[in-house]
Amino acid sequence: MRKDLIAGNWKMNTNHLEAIQMVQKLSYRLDPSDYDRVDVVVCPPFTSLRSVQTVIETDHLGIKLGAQNVDWHEKGAFTGEIAPAMLAKLRVSYVIVGHSERRQLFGETDQIVNKKAKAVVAAGMTPIVCVGETEDQRDAGEEEQVVRSQVRASLAAIDPETVASLVVAYEPIWAIGTGRTASADDAGAMCAFVRDEVRTFAGGAADDVRVLYGGSVNPGNIAGFMAKRDVDGALVGGASLDPDTFASIVRYWV
Ligand code: PGA
Repeated sequence: MRKDLIAGNWKMNTNHLEAIQMVQKLSYRLDPSDYDRVDVVVCPPFTSLRSVQTVIETDHLGIKLGAQNVDWHEKGAFTGEIAPAMLAKLRVSYVIVGHSERRQLFGETDQIVNKKAKAVVAAGMTPIVCVGETEDQRDAGEEEQVVRSQVRASLAAIDPETVASLVVAYEPIWAIGTGRTASADDAGAMCAFVRDEVRTFAGGAADDVRVLYGGSVNPGNIAGFMAKRDVDGALVGGASLDPDTFASIVRYWV
């Protein structure tokens, strides 16, 4: 049984004071039973992690903490980077790796994403590994080929037992921040494709790996995605910045 996971990626938004307010407001809108049904994750910027961690722990909230990026080195002369152990010490549970914005704007390759995913696991956290095709690749009918190679390379040399505990987010780039979503059928088919691909190198771990859809998810379309057998949740950008909106996405069955 895979537990649903809905993660809010705040991207480069909110200072630490705003972040505190957002997580508090979100918690007021969720019931304790919601956390039994869904792993609710917020991924604020690095500068807000400590503040959000403190709110979560002081108020005993069921919300889990995530980070948006990490470096794969243990420590050293990497000016401006953040090491996995630094995040683990803040009791970060999830780390987004290989988001398309990092791949496109900051030159992250599958090889780097793979190193990051392994480093996150080694530090005791769960990577949310992002994959997804561009609009041109989709128009050329290459989405499966692209996603296949991203999944294989990003999860290369990770043992099946570990793969079972990971999260993969399928996010078609043309649907991110554009208001244009994949149809629920397409999202369901691509998430099934990701799972089948994982099966080719990790066998039965494919039944446990959680596959999320991401790209312009909102309260009006979330239920359609969640109804698909191979969609285990969502990675939400813009719509996670409003606590009311994000809470309605988390409580998609209401
Ligand atoms: P969006 O972003 O929901 O704003 O499209 C999704 C993401 O980038 O993870």
